[in-house]
Amino acid sequence: MRDHEPELATMKNELSGAGIVCLRDEPLSRHTTLGVGGRCDLLVQPVEAEQMARVYRLANELSLPTRVLGAGSNLLVDEQGVRGVVVHTARMNHFKIGDSGQVHADAGVHFPTLVKASVNAGLRGLEAGVGIPGSLGGVVTMNAGTYDFSIGPMVDSVRVVSTDRLTPVDRELERGRFEFRYRESSFGSEWSLASAEIQLEADEVAAIKQDMARHTAYRKQTQPVGVRSAGCIFKNPEGDSAGRLIDELSLKGLSVGSAKVSTAHANFIVHDGTASASDVLRLIDEIRERVFRRTEIVLEHEVMVWN
Ligand code: EPU
Repeated sequence: MRDHEPELATMKNELSGAGIVCLRDEPLSRHTTLGVGGRCDLLVQPVEAEQMARVYRLANELSLPTRVLGAGSNLLVDEQGVRGVVVHTARMNHFKIGDSGQVHADAGVHFPTLVKASVNAGLRGLEAGVGIPGSLGGVVTMNAGTYDFSIGPMVDSVRVVSTDRLTPVDRELERGRFEFRYRESSFGSEWSLASAEIQLEADEVAAIKQDMARHTAYRKQTQPVGVRSAGCIFKNPEGDSAGRLIDELSLKGLSVGSAKVSTAHANFIVHDGTASASDVLRLIDEIRERVFRRTEIVLEHEVMVWN
């Protein structure tokens, strides 16, 4: 029998009773772009911040571990899956664009949708992120970006839910109460982002669309499309590009099982739908080891690993 079986049953009953969708033994491969890995005990899908807070409160009372899942575009789940509760933001998906360039969006809003809507509303700021396949919550929490764009500087305020107290606090934080670093934020694992307000600037729709098209074209030209991946696997080492380093060592095409270093961009691992999580994990280790042996650079994961 699994650990926490009675607590999981209580959690599911209470939350289902409150109208929150709960899925037992859900395969996480269904909810990640990489499409590998095992199941979680319980996947719950709140629709707004109060429900999210309720999920954490109950999980804490029952001593069940929690993790938050957005679009699963930067996530590698291992073969064993994860125990406890996965708080999936997919149904927290409302957004609103204000008159003065302010965009308010829930954590589960698909980032490309938000980019397109803001561009169509004549707002500049997000267009460089058009190809980032995450949820708003994931993009803000990990300060996602491209080579010359990060979301952090545009975030004005956030609504967060505490994940680790018996009485979770649901609070608004203004700019200055949180920080962003390269692919990191100060929210850490103690806070789960429920929504964010982003400040953008008005400009000509045609001009912003032109820039967005340029970013899309660059991405299509330099990154794998139409295959399973989790985006960039490693963070860029300071002043360099992990993709360039891996490419220089001629590792494009290197494979373990069905997982392969993309021939389009060396910082991506791709597969045809048949790789296992351990193929991908072994290939990651192999790349890190080869890069370290030749350059003494330790590549850090950008992709999150759940095990
Ligand atoms: N390069 C190579 N070979 C490769 C890949 C890249 O020589 O296989 C060279 C490129 O020619 C270029 C330099 O490395 O001179 C940088 O490459 P690129 O412009 O593709 O940018 P990147 O630093 O590799 C970053 C983000 C990507 C984002 C792109 C495009 C990180 C870790 N990666 O990649 O984000 O899409 O810029 O804007 O910050 C992700 O976060 O998952 C991700 C893919």
